[in-house]
Amino acid sequence: MCGIVGYLGEKKASDVILSGLKKLEYRGYDSCGITFFDEGNHRFVTYKDKGRVNHLVEDFDYSFFNRLGIGHTRWATHGRPNQINSHPHFSETTRFSVVHNGVIENYKELTVKYLADVHFVSETDTEVIADLIERFSQEMSVEEAIRKTLSLIEGSYALLILDTENPSVMYAAKNKSPLLIGTALEGITLASDIMALVGYATQYLPIEDKVFTVVCRQPDGSVGFRMHDILGHRIEMPLQKLDLALDEIGMGGYSHYMLKEICEQPAVVRKIVARYFEGDDFVVSPKIHQVLKKAEKIYIIAAGTSMHAGFVGRYLLENIAKKPAEVFIASEFAYNPPLLCANPAFLFISQSGETADLRTCLVKIKEMGYPSVTITNVPTSTLAREADHFMEICAGPEIAVASTKAYVGQVVILAILAHCLADRKVFDLKEELSKVAVAMEALIDKREYIHALVREKITKRNCFYIGRGLDFFTCLEAALKLKEISYIQTEGFAAAELKHGTIALIEDGVPVIAIISQKNVNNLTRANIREVLSRGANKIVISLNRLSDPSDELVLMDVHEMLSPMLTVIPTQLIAFYSALDLGRDIDKPRNLAKSVTVE
Ligand code: M6R
Repeated sequence: MCGIVGYLGEKKASDVILSGLKKLEYRGYDSCGITFFDEGNHRFVTYKDKGRVNHLVEDFDYSFFNRLGIGHTRWATHGRPNQINSHPHFSETTRFSVVHNGVIENYKELTVKYLADVHFVSETDTEVIADLIERFSQEMSVEEAIRKTLSLIEGSYALLILDTENPSVMYAAKNKSPLLIGTALEGITLASDIMALVGYATQYLPIEDKVFTVVCRQPDGSVGFRMHDILGHRIEMPLQKLDLALDEIGMGGYSHYMLKEICEQPAVVRKIVARYFEGDDFVVSPKIHQVLKKAEKIYIIAAGTSMHAGFVGRYLLENIAKKPAEVFIASEFAYNPPLLCANPAFLFISQSGETADLRTCLVKIKEMGYPSVTITNVPTSTLAREADHFMEICAGPEIAVASTKAYVGQVVILAILAHCLADRKVFDLKEELSKVAVAMEALIDKREYIHALVREKITKRNCFYIGRGLDFFTCLEAALKLKEISYIQTEGFAAAELKHGTIALIEDGVPVIAIISQKNVNNLTRANIREVLSRGANKIVISLNRLSDPSDELVLMDVHEMLSPMLTVIPTQLIAFYSALDLGRDIDKPRNLAKSVTVE
């Protein structure tokens, strides 16, 4: 969940690394650090501290000529966020410097076996890696020492390693955690996310698990790289063109990435339609169609917001395609799987394509020989590469930690899949999606009104969302969004379920937000609203026009009932955004979180 960047080339390494860390800060932002080689004084310089990348950029001196370095932005797993636990970490004599993303599961055993006499400075699992390399390098070459270390460590890692005795080389390795190498004429950049390569690489290559990479400056001054397996055999992998542009990852004049991404949602719907329709026909890979059509049941595996999209997907698959489907929390499925049907197919839904819980499931599914399809926003990601097939969400880079446009994109893709698998046309999806995009625009234009509603109604430390059917799934997502960025404790409830216990929490002024887009339960949900009103709740009702009541606070344009989650989620994203804004929260980087969760 940390971000790592390394550079060796002709450019000023500290510039490349710091700009990369800024782009990766959404992956972890407890603390950060950098080590670079100051060529003028022939020494390695390290700065690291608790806090954000801006602190690293603004409060330290980078005036030295430097063309080699590694950097890190941390999401703490072992030890509190403080200066000592920040990366880079060093071996005991400070010869080796390491940045690490992931978790070394057996670091305690390795310490006892190989490093009993070493004095550790930090509480991290990472320091062990640096010390093992140093220990082994006393008896073998550095490359052998690193490979031996890799053969011993268990768990997940993306690693960049510097040897202070050799300032023309940078080493890298990975297992489970993502790591990419980017090349350009001026030099080579390594990073845990493609975004850090943008502007510094023209070609790139996602590094495979257990591959050991050596980047070095040649005698003629040029920089090259080679890859090896753990035994030292050479591996050749083709580079791909990098065509992500810098303006795609900018803020585009908005105050926050989250607001920008909310406002981009109508465009995302249209982009997906353009990508997956040709005229009125679907452009979905025949192989994906075949795998899912043939399956007796589709198992949807996801986490967080993507799991909420999965719930909507299950509904659409069952109601449109008549295909049985079930949704599982990835971390639960991984170690407590259900009894599977005889002929299953697996659908992995992940914005980042890097979520460790999902990857664990995918590895197990593959071992069992079952087919897998990943729906992801990042075509270069691990889950996209390792599943049998993948579908791209086409939402464009999502930078805010709180997922918005990727969620809507996932639901659109799932609606396309459901229609594609149906034996008969249930409704004109393309036409209905274009109505959704128009309704979204109208709603986003009214966002200042939603801000006013928030000021008036969201005044407590807790909040509830209630709804039935598809609206219940939107409530789950809405609640996650509000608590994630505003820290207001929020629960999403099936409207009738509240009175089976939780209604005890309703008292004067507690906000209860109801979502009504499903005709068959309109009256029932309204009865549930009356129940909380009579106990003092402060209501906000969000309804579709055709189901609305004059007393509803927010009435949305009508869209097809089955596509309503794409629309009704938007006011809830805006409620979360404005609540967090008024509370002065760090909206794009909420506390304790990271954008992609690459540890289990
Ligand atoms: O990248 P993924 O979609 O696999 O991530 C899963 C969750 O971590 C993610 O959806 C998380 O819940 C969001 N940050 C919530 O906004």
